[in-house]
Amino acid sequence: MESAEVARRFLNFFHERGHTVVPSASLIAEDPTLLLVPAGMVPFKPYFLGQRTPPSPRMTSAQKCVRTPDIEEVGKTTRHATFFQMLGNFSIGDYFKEGAIPLAWELLTRSEADGGFGFPEEKLWATVYTDDDEAQDIWHKQVGVPLDRIQRRGLEDNYWHMGVPGPGGPCSEIYYDRGPEYGREGGPIADEDRYLEVWNLVFMQSQLSEVRSKVDFDVRGDLPSKNIDTGMGLERMAAILQGVDNIYETDTLWKILDRAAELTGTKYGRDHRSDVSLRVIADHVRSGMMMVADGIRPGNEGRGYVLRRILRRSIRNLRLLGGEEAGLMHELTSVAISTMGEQYDDLVRTAANIHTVIDAEEESFLSTLRTGTAIFDAAVEETRRSGRPLLGGEQAFKLHDTYGFPIDLTLEMAGEQGLRVDEDGFRRLMSEQRDRAKQDARDKKTGNLDVSVLDELLTRSGGKVDFIGYNDVLGEARLAGLLVNGANVQAAGEGTEVEVVLDRTPFYAEGGGQLADHGVIRLGNGAVVEIDDVQSPLAGLVVHRGRVRSGEAQVGDTAHAEIDVERRRAISRSHTATHMVHAGFRRALGESAAQAGSENSPGRFRFDFTASGAVPPSVLRDVEDEVNEVLVNDLDVRAFHTSIDQARAMGALALFGEKYGDEVRVVEVGDYSRELCGGTHVARSGQLGLIKVLGESSIGAGVRRVEALVGIDAFRFLARESVLVAQLAEQMKTRKEELPERISGVVARLREAEKDLEKLRSQQVLAIAGALADGAADVNGVAYVGHRAPDGTGADDLRKLAVDVRGRLTARPAVVMVAGVPKDRPVVVIAVTEGARERGLKAGGLVGLAAKTLGGGGGGKDDLAQGGGADAAAIGEALTAVERAVGAA
Ligand code: ALA
Repeated sequence: MESAEVARRFLNFFHERGHTVVPSASLIAEDPTLLLVPAGMVPFKPYFLGQRTPPSPRMTSAQKCVRTPDIEEVGKTTRHATFFQMLGNFSIGDYFKEGAIPLAWELLTRSEADGGFGFPEEKLWATVYTDDDEAQDIWHKQVGVPLDRIQRRGLEDNYWHMGVPGPGGPCSEIYYDRGPEYGREGGPIADEDRYLEVWNLVFMQSQLSEVRSKVDFDVRGDLPSKNIDTGMGLERMAAILQGVDNIYETDTLWKILDRAAELTGTKYGRDHRSDVSLRVIADHVRSGMMMVADGIRPGNEGRGYVLRRILRRSIRNLRLLGGEEAGLMHELTSVAISTMGEQYDDLVRTAANIHTVIDAEEESFLSTLRTGTAIFDAAVEETRRSGRPLLGGEQAFKLHDTYGFPIDLTLEMAGEQGLRVDEDGFRRLMSEQRDRAKQDARDKKTGNLDVSVLDELLTRSGGKVDFIGYNDVLGEARLAGLLVNGANVQAAGEGTEVEVVLDRTPFYAEGGGQLADHGVIRLGNGAVVEIDDVQSPLAGLVVHRGRVRSGEAQVGDTAHAEIDVERRRAISRSHTATHMVHAGFRRALGESAAQAGSENSPGRFRFDFTASGAVPPSVLRDVEDEVNEVLVNDLDVRAFHTSIDQARAMGALALFGEKYGDEVRVVEVGDYSRELCGGTHVARSGQLGLIKVLGESSIGAGVRRVEALVGIDAFRFLARESVLVAQLAEQMKTRKEELPERISGVVARLREAEKDLEKLRSQQVLAIAGALADGAADVNGVAYVGHRAPDGTGADDLRKLAVDVRGRLTARPAVVMVAGVPKDRPVVVIAVTEGARERGLKAGGLVGLAAKTLGGGGGGKDDLAQGGGADAAAIGEALTAVERAVGAA
C-alpha cells in the first residue's frame, strides 16, 4: 500500500465516521512555545484548552511534523527521522476512551478490501497507563483483546504531554508483533524492536502548568472537557504495510535514497557507513524541502538554523559518499517533490521557489567547504604552535558558527592531522547558542511572557479578541487583562509599563508584514494608557504595549480605544502599494517572483521576493511606471471573505509558504492585484498618490529586496532630488536637461588636462638630462651621475631620466643613479653603460646596495635596475654608497 494511500484510508475511515478532515497546518507552529510542529495535535491545542471553538467536535488530520532533538541518531538507526507525518483523530468533548479504542481497533483490523489496514487481531497488543482500569476494561471487555496482550506501563511510556505547559493525559498504545525473528517474546514491555508501536491514543484531560521532564510536571487542573488525541506515524505504518524492514525502504523515502545512491555510485546495504549517509540524505532532503515549502529560509537562528543544519548535513553526507559536485541537491529535491507531490500539491506549484532556496544554500555551503580548508589549516597551525593536543572547542565552534563547518567535518579533518577536538567544549558552546536562539525566538514573539499567562488572558477575553479595525479607528471595549513585567495584575498606576488586553480592539497587531498601530486607550475611570506596540503572541490574542500616562488602569473597566489615524493611514497606503508592486513584479518576472516577506511602515515599504539574480534596472523602472499609471486610475480596493478554493480559482496570490484556513480574506485592487491578506488597506488606489521605487538588493541567497516610498514621502524624496538637480545645474551653469552632457564634458576635459600635466612634468624632468650628463663626475675613470629628483616625480619619470642621461654618455663607462620619492617611499633607478659593465659595474648589484641603505630591496638586469626602500631620509647616504662602490671598481 503506497504511503499516500495509507493517509487517504485513515482520513476516509474517520471522515465516514463523522470527523471533519482538517488539512495539515504549516510546519511553522502558531504556538510560541514551539519552533516547529512536532506532533499532530499542535493545531488542535487551542480547542483542547477551550480557547477556541473547533469547527467540529470530531476531526481528523494528516499533519506534517519535524522533530530534531535526535538528529544525530538519524540514519544510524532506521527508526529516527527528522520529518514524518502523523495521522490522528481528535475528539473535543465528544467521544472519549470508549469511542477512541474501538475506532482504532476497527481501522487496524478491518480487511484491506474493506478500507482497513488488515492487521491480524492476534498480532496486536495494547498498553495502558498504570492505574487506567477503564481503558483496560474497554480493551478487554468491549474489544475482546485477551488480558495477556494488555500491559500496564508508567509515566515514562504511557503519559503524553507536549514537553511544555499545555494539555496532557494518560495514553494507551497499540503495538504490532513483527514475529520471533525480530526479538523476544513478552510484549512491548519486553522488546520494542519486535513489538512496534503503531498508534498512540491520548486521553487528553489535564492542563499542565509546569513541565520539568517527561515524568516530572505539575497538573494545574482539568481541561474544560475530556478529549481524544491520537497519533499514528504514517511512515512506520507504510513500512509495515509495504512489508519492508523500516521507514527508509518505504516508497517515498526509498526513491530519494535510491537516487542518492545512484548519483554517488554507492550501493545500499554494502557497508554501514554509507548506509547511514544514504539514510541521512533521504530524510534530510525531504525534511529540508518540506521546511522550505512552508516558508522557512536557511539562517543562523531558530527555525532557519534548524533548516540550514539539515540541508548542510545532507550536502556533507553526499560528499562523504563522493558526491562533491554542485546540483546534486537540486536533483534529489526534485525526487522529493515528486514523491510528496501527490499528498501536497503546493509542492509542485512552488517547485521553482523551493529549488531557488535549496540551490542557493548548496552553492553557499560548497563555497564554504572550498575556502574552509584554509580556515581549518590556520586553526590546526595555531593548535600546534601552542603545543596543545586538542583543537579547542571555541575553534571548532567558530568554524561551525562563522564558516558553517559541520562538526563531523572538523572531527574528520582534525583526525587526518593526528589531532583530536575538544568536543565537550564545542557541544557546550553549541547548546548555549541553541538556548539563546530558542530564547530569542520566544522573546521576539511573546516579549518573554509565560505562555500559561497568555493562555489565561485569551480565555478571559472570550477565546478570541475581536478585531474591529478594518472598519473602525476607535471603539468601546472592556479591559480584560493587564500585565506588568509579564505577570497578571489587577491595576497599574501612572508611569507603569503595561501590557493591555481588551475583549475587542481597533488596534492592528503587527503581522503579515504590517507594522502595529499606535494610539491611546482611555478607561472609564479617566485613566489613559498610551500604546506604542501591539503584538499577537498567540493566535486570537492581541496584546497592547505601552505606558499608563495618567490615572490608574484597572481590569474590568470600560475602555475607549483609539488609534493614531495618521499613522494607520500611512501604513495602509504602504500595504496597498506593496500589493500593487508585488502584482507588477509578477507580471514582469513571472510566477517565480514570489513574495517572501514584506514590511509596511508609514510612508515606506519593502518587499522581498525569490529570484535567482538581480532585477535589471529597466525592469524596476517599468514596474514602477506601470504601478503609478494604474494607481492614478483610482481603482476600488475591496476586501471580502471567501473559501480558499474560490480564492485560488480567482487567481488570488497566496504567499509562498503561508498556510491558510478554509475561509480566507481576499484583498483586491481593481483588477490589477488580488491577494490573500489580513491587513488594512486604503479604499481607492488614488489615495496612494505616488510610488517611488528606491532600489533593489540581495538580502540572502535567492532572495531580493525592493524598497520604495509611497505618498507624501515619495513626493518629498522626488522633490529633494529635484532641488539637488537644480543646484547642480546652477553650479554647472547649464540647463537641467543638459547636465549629463555637461558633466561628461567636464570629466573628459579634466582627464585631458591631467594627461597634459603629466606630459609637461616628464618634459620638465627630462629637460635637465643634458645638464646632468654634462656635469657627470669622473670617479676613477667612470662618469658618475647621482641625482635626486624633486619629490613627487613618478617612478616612470625617474627611469626615463636615468635612461636618457645614460644615452648621452654611451661612449664612456658611465653609471647614472636617479633617486626620488614618488609617493611616500624612496625609489632608486640605476642605469649603466656597456663600458661600465665591462669594468664589473652592474645595475642590479648597485641597486641592491642602494636599496639596502634605504631599508628595502630591489634588483634587475645588469644595464638597468630599480629598487626601493622605506627611509627617504637615507637617500643621500644611498647616493654616497653607490658613488663609493663605483670608485672602488
Ligand atoms: N500526541 C500524541 C503523540 O504525538 C498522539 O504521540
